[in-house]
Order: sequence, then C-alpha cells, then structure tokens
Amino acid sequence: MRSYKLPSGAGIPAFGIGTWRMGESASVRPRELDAIRYALDLGYPMIDTAEMYGEGEAEEIVGEALAGRARRPFIVSKVYPHNASRSGTIAACERSLRRLRLERIDLYLLHWRGEIPLAETFEAFERLRESGKIADFGVSNFDRDDMEEAAALDDRRIAANQVLYCLSRRGPDFDLLPWMRTRSMPLMAYSPLDQGRLLAKSALRKIAADVGCTPAQLALAWLLAQPGVVAIPKSSSRERVKENFAALDIALSPGILAELDRAFPPPRRKQALDIL
Ligand SMILES: NC(=O)c1ccc[n+]([C@@H]2O[C@H](COP(=O)([O-])OP(=O)(O)OC[C@H]3O[C@@H](n4cnc5c(N)ncnc54)[C@H](OP(=O)(O)O)[C@@H]3O)[C@@H](O)[C@H]2O)c1
Repeated sequence: MRSYKLPSGAGIPAFGIGTWRMGESASVRPRELDAIRYALDLGYPMIDTAEMYGEGEAEEIVGEALAGRARRPFIVSKVYPHNASRSGTIAACERSLRRLRLERIDLYLLHWRGEIPLAETFEAFERLRESGKIADFGVSNFDRDDMEEAAALDDRRIAANQVLYCLSRRGPDFDLLPWMRTRSMPLMAYSPLDQGRLLAKSALRKIAADVGCTPAQLALAWLLAQPGVVAIPKSSSRERVKENFAALDIALSPGILAELDRAFPPPRRKQALDIL
C-alpha cells in the first residue's frame, strides 16, 4: 500500500479506519470493537482516533482492539484545542496513551485551532516527540492561511493536516492541497464519504455502476488516486469495513477520473475550508 514519508522518517499509510462516533453508546460498543478488530484482521494499516471521540471511549476501544496483537497499525490521535497548552497537551497525550495501551502515538494532531497560541502547542508537541511519546505531530482543520502561520513557527516538523475533503467537498483542491503538495505534506481526508451523504448522489451511483464497484468504493478510490491524500473512512459494520478496504484494489482510468471531475467539479476560486 502507498505511504507518505513524514518528518520522523516513518511512512503514513494512504488508508485507515476512522472512529468518530464510536464509544458513545454501550449498546453498540461490542459491534464497534468487532469492526476495528476485523479491520485489523483484513490488514487496515492505520486507525484514526481522538480524545474527543466518545470522550476517550473510542481510544479505549482502539486500545482493546490492539491488545495482544503482534503487529500494530499506525495510530493517529488528536488533542482538544482547549487542552493544547504547554502542559495540557502533554497531560492529554499521556491520557490518550493510557487508553490506547501504547507507549507511542505515531501522529498526534491539534484537532482544530482554539484560543491557545500555536507556539505553545508546538512546543509541547516537540517535547512529546523528544521524549518518544509521539513520533510525528501535525494539525487538523487548518486552511491555507492557518498553515502558513503554522509553517512560520515550524517549517520542518509539521507532518500532516487532516481536513474535510471528498468528491462533494473539493474546496482544498484550490489552494490548500497544492500548498501542502509543494511541501510533501500529506492531507488526511476526513469524512471521505461525507458521512454517507455522498453515496446518495445519482452521478456517483451511475459512474460506480459503470466501473463495477459500489459508490463508497468509487468515492474512496478517487481519493486514493489523488497524490498526497490519505483516506480514513469510518464504519462499525464488518460488511462495510470489507467493502471500503476493497477500494484499494480499484484503479480508475483517466476517462473515469474525467467523468468524476465533470460530475463533481473542482473549485474555480477560493472556498473557505468546510468543517464538520
Ligand atoms: N479531524 C476532524 O475534525 C475530523 C472530523 C470528522 C471526521 N474525522 C475522522 O475521519 C473519520 C471518517 O469521517 P466520518 O466518520 O465523519 O465520515 P465517513 O467516513 O465519511 O462516513 C461514515 C459514515 O458512513 C457510513 N459508511 C461507512 N462505509 C460505508 C459504506 N461502504 N456504505 C455506506 N455507508 C457507509 C458509516 O456507517 P456505519 O458505521 O454504520 O457503517 C458512517 O455513518 C472519522 O471517523 C474520524 O476518525 C476527523
């Protein structure tokens, strides 16, 4: 599977499973745990989580799914903006590590920009990196102007930016993604199915039928065809976890990519970054 090199030298896989909305209800917890375990059995190389998801419970589920495995996937987690102070970031990361039952998070992100100065958060990230508790750090929900500000503080170590990006939300195509590409910084595309809404679009359904795949697989294969882009679809169902993973085997022809561009045109001018 394709991966992108981060400042630590490690590679971030181009595909993984998301965990937002997991850990919010005890009645569906077994199903969520089963979906993550199944994803790992299939070979999903990455899990994306955050202290926010289920207020720590999603990280607990991930920790339980990882327990006893010989090989562990690449782990991404995120700190709440209100925790992202010099000492708060470190304490939040240590709590996440305990819940995940890990000694190191591979990529630790600031979930979105808050009131605490970025310089403080980056200082804490750097201390976490030096102590081995995280391997790389980055940001999330940063538009181009935020990225420029972040890069002015630290132009070597910011490893990635996780933003809303999918066929029906192509705003980053205009300037954010090109800016990141020139710096070889991967864009983690969250809500790659637009939380399921994209799958109802008739154009997507028609093109998927022509390709011979499902609409979700087409949406994911399109993201995977974009250089520098990582996709992290979430599912709590075994069938969908398997369906989404199979998107990795779909190569889209130039003709299909052009058809998708006509149905879901890239922006012609700057659009403010969408946030969910
Ligand atoms: N950094 C941020 O601010 C941020 C924001 C949003 C998301 N994220 C991350 O990105 C991950 C993915 O985004 P997301 O969870 O918002 O949305 P998503 O992955 O676009 O969509 C998830 C939704 O689609 C359904 N689904 C999944 N596969 C499907 C398939 N093959 N066919 C039909 N429906 C399918 C899921 O239902 P079932 O579970 O029932 O299958 C779920 O309701 C999150 O889980 C999280 O890790 C980050």
